[in-house]
Amino acid sequence: MRALLVDRSAPGGLHLGTTADPVPAPHQALVRVTATSLNAGEVRFGIANAPDGAVLGWDAAGVVERAAADGTGPAAGTPVVTLAPDGAWAELRAVDTGLIGTVPPGADLGAISTVPVAGASALRALHRLGPILGRRVLVTGATGGVGGYAVQLARLGGASVVATTGDPERHGESLRALGADEVRADPADLADQVDGIVDMVGGGQLVAAYERLAKGGTLVSVGHSTDGGENFPFGAFFGNEGRHDRSITAFYLLDCPDLAPDLGWLARAVAAGRLDPQISWRGGWDGAADAIAALLERRLHGKAVLDIG
Ligand SMILES: NC(=O)c1ccc[n+]([C@@H]2O[C@H](COP(=O)([O-])OP(=O)(O)OC[C@H]3O[C@@H](n4cnc5c(N)ncnc54)[C@H](OP(=O)(O)O)[C@@H]3O)[C@@H](O)[C@H]2O)c1
Repeated sequence: MRALLVDRSAPGGLHLGTTADPVPAPHQALVRVTATSLNAGEVRFGIANAPDGAVLGWDAAGVVERAAADGTGPAAGTPVVTLAPDGAWAELRAVDTGLIGTVPPGADLGAISTVPVAGASALRALHRLGPILGRRVLVTGATGGVGGYAVQLARLGGASVVATTGDPERHGESLRALGADEVRADPADLADQVDGIVDMVGGGQLVAAYERLAKGGTLVSVGHSTDGGENFPFGAFFGNEGRHDRSITAFYLLDCPDLAPDLGWLARAVAAGRLDPQISWRGGWDGAADAIAALLERRLHGKAVLDIG
């Protein structure tokens, strides 16, 4: 099969070549991939740390070529959206059936390919906040793949949403269109407290966000887009002004089992137009180097989709 293979001598660290077809385990379906979406983590760290020749990629949408031998998961011919630790940047991938969501027939599989990491991380991180109906939720790094889904899902869940971006002037209008009620450059700019936080930036923004977290609130640390560390000033955890019982928790999507129902629900919401996949770059997989450079240089906001094959 053809695949984007890690090759650190090539632009973007990948070249389009051929490699052996994957051999599915009994609990895996073989999927013919038609589109993948790129994520910050895999292009920033995955390519740098994988051996040459590896096939990376977390997100892929396509059609089941061969159903799992153990009888689980969708039948051959079903359009699907899939998540796995690697193997998405190829014509064929073998995926655990617990990480395969079914997709409505006729849906744009490029749009659906944005769902696994960005959509499911946002959904599961919001679940960790508990009930958000009528509450105020802060999303940092809101112009990113995860952030854009988090803003939309928090709004769908009934929250009042505060979004941060390094450039509110440029992105304010689009973030409001996704559902943000308030757009700020930094959590430090917030006048009022928030009940829950989904943080994709880390560093000083995480510290400033925690400072604005109300009593009983949770901050879910999803990402570290900044290289800065988190230095909490003396007294940050005392819970002054009666703000006790606040928590910070870490999150890792690939530790979440049984994502299939969530992937299917997100795919249906995108297909029905209830969620915007925020595609800001789309092209053939021979254009991967351009998309990767734009993502790494913070020029690409939203999702980059590669049509495979
Ligand atoms: N734990 C998990 O399971 C999990 C899952 C998914 C993602 N992640 C992590 O979550 C983070 C976001 O992922 P993503 O795919 O949404 O990334 P993304 O599309 O690159 O979005 C990140 C956003 O953060 C902002 N940003 C970028 N660099 C920044 C910096 N140096 N300082 C402050 N803000 C910065 C940018 O917005 P502006 O330019 O508008 O400020 C950008 O849109 C990444 O660190 C990723 O690795 C973790």
